[in-house]
Amino acid sequence: MPKVKITELEQQLDPLKLPRHIAIIMDGNGRWAKSKHLPRISGHAMGAKRVSEIVTAASDLDIKSLSLYAFSTENWSRPQPEVSFLMSLLVKYLKKELKNLIRKDVKMVVSGHIEVLPAAAKNVINQNIETSKNHQGMVFNLCLNYGGRQEITDACLELAKQVKAGKLNVDEIDEHRVGQHLYHPALGDVDLMIRTSGEERISNFLLWQLAYSELYFTSVMWPDFTKIDLLEAILAYQKRERRFGGI
Ligand code: IPE
Ligand code: IPE
Ligand code: MG
Repeated sequence: MPKVKITELEQQLDPLKLPRHIAIIMDGNGRWAKSKHLPRISGHAMGAKRVSEIVTAASDLDIKSLSLYAFSTENWSRPQPEVSFLMSLLVKYLKKELKNLIRKDVKMVVSGHIEVLPAAAKNVINQNIETSKNHQGMVFNLCLNYGGRQEITDACLELAKQVKAGKLNVDEIDEHRVGQHLYHPALGDVDLMIRTSGEERISNFLLWQLAYSELYFTSVMWPDFTKIDLLEAILAYQKRERRFGGI
């Protein structure tokens, strides 16, 4: 990777205006592979390498939270061999990533219904979460079998249970309380949402947390996305004027 370019971009960053929470829809693995006449799974394999690089890069840039969309509740509709490959790739990637989490003091959490994932995947996920739970650096939120609608529905269900059990009054339900029942409330709202591959849609990602996020779309395919692209996205974000409904 061209170090000069990285240094040049880093020097342009305003350290006081860094996005606290960055979320990325890592898209375009299949098209990347197709453009190289490779099977789709090669795109996923290269994509997994990028995950590791971007976790390191974001942590080095002192980003507080990084959410990465790895598998959606809708991705089960893909051909079974592709889903199986993604699950085995996940296991391989997470085993390798543990060293990096330790080295970088990164805390890993997961959003999504992981209870239905294959046992091997669940085991390594739980190991990484457990080993990194007291880490003080960036929080890396891996979104797996994740759906934004599911997350909000789960929060509603939890609140309904509390009401039914007489622990909560209906009129105590407000936006703050709903937000506190999302999977990981401490991550906070997303400041910058990046989607690779040229698609300009949300695809059921972090619907609640994206309410006022700045959206950044790039035509770069995920397997080609490097620290340089991340820095360019952050620099674009720093040029935006965020208004939150004000003037
Ligand atoms: C993103 O790449 C990875 C996952 C959704 C798991 P895709 O597999 O969606 O790649 P394209 O969109 O087909 O190019
Ligand atoms: C979104 O990408 C999900 C992930 C990146 C995990 P998709 O490729 O599944 O989204 P659509 O189908 O193009 O909206
Ligand atoms: Mg896609």
